[in-house]
Amino acid sequence: MSKLLIKGGKTLNGSVRVQGAKNSVLPILAATVLCDDISTIHGCPQLRDVSAAVKILECLGCRVKREGDTLTVDAKCVSAADLPDSLMRRMRSSITFLGAITARCGRAKMCSPGGCEIGIRPIDLHIKALRELGIRVYETGGYTETEADRIKGADIHLDFPSVGATENIMLASCLGDGKTTIWNAAKEPEISDLQDFLCKMGAKIKGAGSDVIVIDGVKKLHGAEHRVIPDRIVAATYLCTGAMCGGEINLTNICSTHIKSVISVLKDTGMIIKEEKDGITLKSNGRILPIDILRTMPYPGFPTDAQAPFAALLSLAEGTSVIVENIFENRFKYCGELCRMGADIKVSGRAAVIRGVKRFYGACVTAMDLRGGAALVAAGAAAHGETQIDGVNLIERGYESIEDDLAKLGADIKKD
Ligand code: UD1
Repeated sequence: MSKLLIKGGKTLNGSVRVQGAKNSVLPILAATVLCDDISTIHGCPQLRDVSAAVKILECLGCRVKREGDTLTVDAKCVSAADLPDSLMRRMRSSITFLGAITARCGRAKMCSPGGCEIGIRPIDLHIKALRELGIRVYETGGYTETEADRIKGADIHLDFPSVGATENIMLASCLGDGKTTIWNAAKEPEISDLQDFLCKMGAKIKGAGSDVIVIDGVKKLHGAEHRVIPDRIVAATYLCTGAMCGGEINLTNICSTHIKSVISVLKDTGMIIKEEKDGITLKSNGRILPIDILRTMPYPGFPTDAQAPFAALLSLAEGTSVIVENIFENRFKYCGELCRMGADIKVSGRAAVIRGVKRFYGACVTAMDLRGGAALVAAGAAAHGETQIDGVNLIERGYESIEDDLAKLGADIKKD
């Protein structure tokens, strides 16, 4: 099992290019099965979750080729509609394939995803919406199975603006009969990216980025070429790390409008931020101001995926901060590990009270989940002494090469 070894305390300076967005690549890869044609997707990071999605496509009968960060998917020979349990367990978000496979094959079968390290993560909103589209959904013996002769346009109101459910409805309905309207849709940039790709394939969708998305079903889609948007959560993680370590870092391949809420909080902590056309520069003088209350919210609110790196940052603030997690119910597991490094964090339910400390100290810690693991890396880079992080495979689900990126900025970090 590999580990990350970090000799902390180095000031960070320099520039790094941000990878393509994992959360865009996954639904876009699911969309490629909607046509019997070839699609080319640029900007696909080499991640465990992306290779799991590629394996799913191959299981369905697609031929997939990777050249650098470009994936070419030939979906002419889709022959299977059943997903093996092992793949479903490797990546919870494979549920996004349910709508796409059903639209292409008229049926799908996969094991129900179950809970994960950050919460229960039910799929009730996905299932209710697919049923409203006229899809028969059976949940038996730990499996979710769908059947549909025709997918029918519908008016769907989501009780919560779920990202995955919004994507599943878009994927299932764009080949359906008539018009589908999603009310209270998720507004994340990855939803707009999926709309852009589907429209390039010939779909008729508008409204992504707002809370009402309208899909006019079409008879057939064709292959398309697309470059995914930059990963706003990777950018937020690196900005936090720069803020904690001091110095001046520049990120390229980032759309600063996607991280407005993150930039606003960073400015409140005292960071100097310059937004450029395709990048962003953060200057830190080493002083970090606390934040009274930081609440995670659906986009354009502060992202739950950036919550853990910000807890690491606020641990070094000159005062007390409170973080309230409103999206997932179990997303503070990493706090115990940060405390082993010297943080002072008390968690009660969905709130964490963070009393600022002078410094982190290097320690042996374990990543419990993807973003919590990234927070440990950020803390390790800022810590006095040496940090060893186990559970690197969880971090690699979302960061292509966190050690190379931070090393480029001057951190002393390597994978062992
Ligand atoms: C996506 C992102 C994830 C991010 C999250 C919230 C991907 C691959 N993952 O996850 O990184 O943290 O959005 O921004 O894009 N819920 C239900 N029933 C459902 C579906 C969701 O109760 O059927 C609840 C969830 O348990 C959670 C909340 O809704 O509490 C938000 O979940 P959702 O927006 O669906 O997140 P994901 O799409 O799973």
